[in-house]
Amino acid sequence: MYYPDEFIEEVRMRNDIVDIIGNSVHLQKKGSSYFGLCPFHNEKSPSFSVSREKQMYYCFGCGAGGNVITFVMEYENYGFVEAVRYLAERAGMEIPKEEYSPEAKRQADLKGILLEIQKKAARYFYYQLKSNNGKIGYEYLKNRGLSDDTIRAFGLGYAAPYPDDLYQYLKKEGYSDEILKESGLVKIEERGAYDKFWNRVMFPIMDVNNRVIGFGGRVMGEGNPKYLNSPETKIFDKSRNLYGLNVARRSRKSYFLVCEGYMDVISMHQAGFTNAVASLGTAFTSQHGILIKRYVHEVILTYDSDAAGVKAALRAIPMLKEAGLSVKVLNLKPYKDPDEFIKNLGADAFQERIEQAVNGFLFEIQNLRLQYDLGDPEQKTEFFNQVAEKLLVFEDEMEQNNYIEAVSREYGINYDILRKKVGSLGNRAGLVRGMVSKPKSGIQKRSEKEDGIHQAQRLLLTWLCEEPSVYNKISDIIEPRDFTEDLYRQVAEMLFAQLEVGKRNPGEILNHFINDEEQYREVAAIFNTKLKEGMTKEEKNRAFRETVLRVKKNGLDYASKNVEDIAQLQAIISAQKALKTLNISLD
Ligand code: UTP
Ligand code: MN
Repeated sequence: MYYPDEFIEEVRMRNDIVDIIGNSVHLQKKGSSYFGLCPFHNEKSPSFSVSREKQMYYCFGCGAGGNVITFVMEYENYGFVEAVRYLAERAGMEIPKEEYSPEAKRQADLKGILLEIQKKAARYFYYQLKSNNGKIGYEYLKNRGLSDDTIRAFGLGYAAPYPDDLYQYLKKEGYSDEILKESGLVKIEERGAYDKFWNRVMFPIMDVNNRVIGFGGRVMGEGNPKYLNSPETKIFDKSRNLYGLNVARRSRKSYFLVCEGYMDVISMHQAGFTNAVASLGTAFTSQHGILIKRYVHEVILTYDSDAAGVKAALRAIPMLKEAGLSVKVLNLKPYKDPDEFIKNLGADAFQERIEQAVNGFLFEIQNLRLQYDLGDPEQKTEFFNQVAEKLLVFEDEMEQNNYIEAVSREYGINYDILRKKVGSLGNRAGLVRGMVSKPKSGIQKRSEKEDGIHQAQRLLLTWLCEEPSVYNKISDIIEPRDFTEDLYRQVAEMLFAQLEVGKRNPGEILNHFINDEEQYREVAAIFNTKLKEGMTKEEKNRAFRETVLRVKKNGLDYASKNVEDIAQLQAIISAQKALKTLNISLD
């Protein structure tokens, strides 16, 4: 279902972003922007900005950003169409009849259709659960202590015990086998089509914007596998999503409770701990850590208390720390997981355990300790040596010293000896580190040159958006295809087309990236970066010239590698020559 682009644009124009956001966020004018407390993450001082000129919002704290439509989507948990309708009604506009698009448009919007399919499947499963056929599923969930409200809030459902129930339904809804295959919900084989999930209770997995992107399905009782999960698809990336994040991000707590399972998240939420999330049937990754860091600065791990859970926690701790989060570990004993704990001891007891959660590093040491018999002097020495080694992770001297103190107190290690030991190990490690360059962990580093070009392209886009008059200076020199980064080129094409007719509308451009959160954020960031202030006119001119030259030079280099004929090559060569004498300035 689509609205025509012109209608969407009209809706945007008739709903001033400052008015709309001002209804839910207290905004104060500062310079040309308005500032307030970000509604999308927990903060004490305002880093959420709204610009009337650009008709955009952006949070310098968590990176949330967008236009009036995405604000309503995120804030009100609406889908795109719903958000547009809401704003249209608010502006007293007549809403056009919904357009059903031809196959061509469908193909162009594959992600949109995949989202639509997941949503329909979730509704179908939910409806089944509530119908007579789904009684077993409903009873199963009730027996596990879930209330009707919880079932509704998480959209839990039931997949019937027939191998192609969902498939038949989705076929009736008009989806082709081809697209259904991509949804991960059915397998299509020579002998026929099979649902991925049947005879299970269903847990829809939602992204941060409450859009269903996949499912987990549990057998009702014993059975193997206990849980089945959707495969990764174009819309479901397991390392970029967490179960429960759509709710947890709004919990306004400064930490998340991270657990292992669907049922754990649901039980915790039901007990009032709405800041619980879980990784999705996969191990925790460093990407998850980075994702969490957008919303909070602390994590309390509530992994299962068995050996596997401890191991998983020990694996996750370094990744969380690497992402800049502080970590604590909650003790669930004598229960296996948060679900069982809460069922047996209740929310208050769980809250107490939250307060008693132990620091992640001390948890690591506790577990290390279990490997040694401290009655044996040799093993004891080895344990202390290991502890000293581990203490090297702290780069900050004061922090390290605090841990040395804590550990020596806890394990009866002489403080001075331990500190000396850590010091001497540190010196040796420092020597080695000096010899080899330490690779930056996680993210692969671009070469410096690549980085420079990337930055120049980005800066030029920011510049054009901040000071549209600059367009006249560069329109004869730079073309959109000089932006060799794919995303930037797409943005440049749209921005240039606008500037060409004397318009500047970043909010509209942003709309084109609505189906890809990462691109969306990047584009929002481009349009919300401020140019450095306080530069002299001369400095600014120099920076401008340098930026334009870099972008153009790289654009030509790139083009010369991809030429198709001699004429093209000659044109590039003469353009490269012309660049040497190019005189460009802001005045
Ligand atoms: P657990 O086996 O600890 O199950 O798996 P649980 O969460 O306690 O579930 P209940 O209480 O028995 O219903 C933890 C998580 O690991 C993933 C699921 O995400 C599950 O919630 N898992 C587990 C699978 O993906 N497949 C499996 O077969 C088992
Ligand atoms: Mn469980």
